[in-house]
Amino acid sequence: MLAVSLRQIGMAANACRFGRRLLQTQAGSASDWQLQTAIAFDIDGVLVKGKRTLDQGRRALAMLNGDNRLNKKIPFVLMTNGGGVSEATKAADISKRLQTEIRADQVVLAHSPMQSLVKQYGDKHVLVVGGIKRRCADIARAYGFTDVSTPNDLVHWQPSLWPFMRPPANDQLSAVPGRDYAMHPFHAVMVFYDSFDFGRDLQVVTDVLRSKDATAGNDFVDRQVVPLFMSNEDLVFSNDYSQPRFGQGAYHVCLRAMWHALTNGAPLEYTRFGKPHQVQYRYSEQLLDRMAMAAVPGIDLASMRAGRCIYAIGDNPAADIAGANGAGWSSVLVRTGVFRGPPGSNDAANPATMVVDHVEDAVSWILETEAKRLDAVGSGLKTKIKARAGSPLCA
Ligand code: G3P
Ligand code: MG
Repeated sequence: MLAVSLRQIGMAANACRFGRRLLQTQAGSASDWQLQTAIAFDIDGVLVKGKRTLDQGRRALAMLNGDNRLNKKIPFVLMTNGGGVSEATKAADISKRLQTEIRADQVVLAHSPMQSLVKQYGDKHVLVVGGIKRRCADIARAYGFTDVSTPNDLVHWQPSLWPFMRPPANDQLSAVPGRDYAMHPFHAVMVFYDSFDFGRDLQVVTDVLRSKDATAGNDFVDRQVVPLFMSNEDLVFSNDYSQPRFGQGAYHVCLRAMWHALTNGAPLEYTRFGKPHQVQYRYSEQLLDRMAMAAVPGIDLASMRAGRCIYAIGDNPAADIAGANGAGWSSVLVRTGVFRGPPGSNDAANPATMVVDHVEDAVSWILETEAKRLDAVGSGLKTKIKARAGSPLCA
């Protein structure tokens, strides 16, 4: 249990003179906490466990939305390696489950930063893998990819390509039926979400990657012909089962093994998205920047960033904690998900700034720490803004 609760920190927060001074100079009406402090929540294993919603998660988000003695709203994003739905759908689902309003622009899914690939592949034929039916293809189209096919489209084209399933019905297809995939080369393979059929997706992806003309169905070569992008390499994740479950990273392991076996050990190269990769953290920072700009129009972003401490709360040391530490954020590890260390322990490979039992304790600790930090800076211990995320001034 945390020694200091949120209720005990109200007085300390009142002394945030530094924040007020910053806001006065920037003509803003936002609270200092809105600019100086931000939180990125992991979802699975922190706020929810599969179909189960954690009560501590509800209370933690309510605290950030102003349900605290300080009456402070604190900006936050949800940053998950999950996906397979749109950001708006995820926001609506989590809003309902956690009984708090979350907007689509507060949600970072594993595949959200893959929107940056539209510049290069927006008008090219791409294979989108993962998820159910054609949902990921629809998400890719909404991002701006205009020519999207899926493994189901290929199996529908030639059922013998993967004979171990019933050929998909038309409502499961992404592309118009009747396309001859031997004639339409792919320019990229993008794994958006967990495969719902490992066998089929190993077959289809290795077929396309090593087809000599980047199609499906033509002769194979022992080298990678098509670039590959993957959204989430979590080996395991936490749901309501008693033990962690295979994540998309398990598919990567299988794909690499099959690739090596099929190609006599040719290298398989791919670009990774998702935590712990920094592309995810830069993307989240951009969302947080936009929130600050909305709170204080005309804000000096560089000064705001220099004084802001971002905290990540996660359950998976290899993803959430490694990534946050690498981004120069503070990291809080909870014991409700993948991490199973005994009380008092930290992860040896990726130690977090703080380890607590659950997300509610994490938020209480962050608020307490930030109250002290902003008070210390405002009391003249530091005469100007030097607090960079990851510096001694952030936890
Ligand atoms: O498939 C979801 C999983 O790999 C991780 O989700 O919210 O714990 O990052 P999250
Ligand atoms: Mg998690």
